[in-house]
Amino acid sequence: MTYPVDMSVKPEISAHFDDATNTITYIVKDPNSDHCAIIDSVMDIDYAAGRITYDAADALIAEIQSRGLTLDWIIETHVHADHLSAAPYLQQKLGGKIGVGEKIMVVQETFGKVFNEGTEFQRDGSQFDALFKDGDTYMIGTMQAFAMYTPGHTPACMVHVVGNAAFAGDTLFMPDGGSARADFPGGDAGVLYDSIQKVLSLPDEMRLFMCHDYGPNGRAIEWETTVAEQKADNIHVGGGKSRDDFIKFRTERDAQLAMPRLIMPSLQVNMRAGEVPTDQDGNPMLKVPINAI
Ligand SMILES: [Fe+2]
Repeated sequence: MTYPVDMSVKPEISAHFDDATNTITYIVKDPNSDHCAIIDSVMDIDYAAGRITYDAADALIAEIQSRGLTLDWIIETHVHADHLSAAPYLQQKLGGKIGVGEKIMVVQETFGKVFNEGTEFQRDGSQFDALFKDGDTYMIGTMQAFAMYTPGHTPACMVHVVGNAAFAGDTLFMPDGGSARADFPGGDAGVLYDSIQKVLSLPDEMRLFMCHDYGPNGRAIEWETTVAEQKADNIHVGGGKSRDDFIKFRTERDAQLAMPRLIMPSLQVNMRAGEVPTDQDGNPMLKVPINAI
């Protein structure tokens, strides 16, 4: 696959860091128009109380409205397991299309079973407005963006590239954070290594924006790096580390990791493009399947 990389296009990027889930949401603006996209939004949840609020999403809406921007796209790099998407709320307030990788269908099939969803839960990705295949392009104002298929963390992961900026989703973390786990259902460490190599084959000067940062070893939160920095310094894949070494390391590490605190609500909501499921009476309701993942 040859991707339509154009480093001459320089989107304006603003980052919103969510303290509760260590997620970074991006507003990506076309420098030549008022159009923008949002990548990986967050809906706030107090899981213990079953309470959903929209402070993080409202901050995005306030910025977009105060800058007078038109929202073209609400992009999900993948079905996140650690935070809930605010895509439908943002779409209701601002418009725009919700897009995700077409392999969402695989994720819906897998977790449709885990959560014992009925036939009313469609497994065809129809909850989303656009399903991207590897190399598909789309426009943000006058800028052409494209999606790169990067499975391994999940089967539906995509990295989105807009001019000289790439949004890494959960492939890579900052160089001192390494890489994302590959042990969720449908994940695969070797496939993740191959996807990371695809990202690292982008131009050295490509700006790389992380979806998460946890501030390893007490450093301040960061989210931007470059392909060159990742190739040189990434603690899991940098300096030419081999595929076999990566698989061994990743598999051993993943076996030690606890499940993300919000995995149960996140999967149920995010596989529905951010809609909260309902019970037989139409009330918003979440499930916890026992010993199922
Ligand atoms: Fe993730």
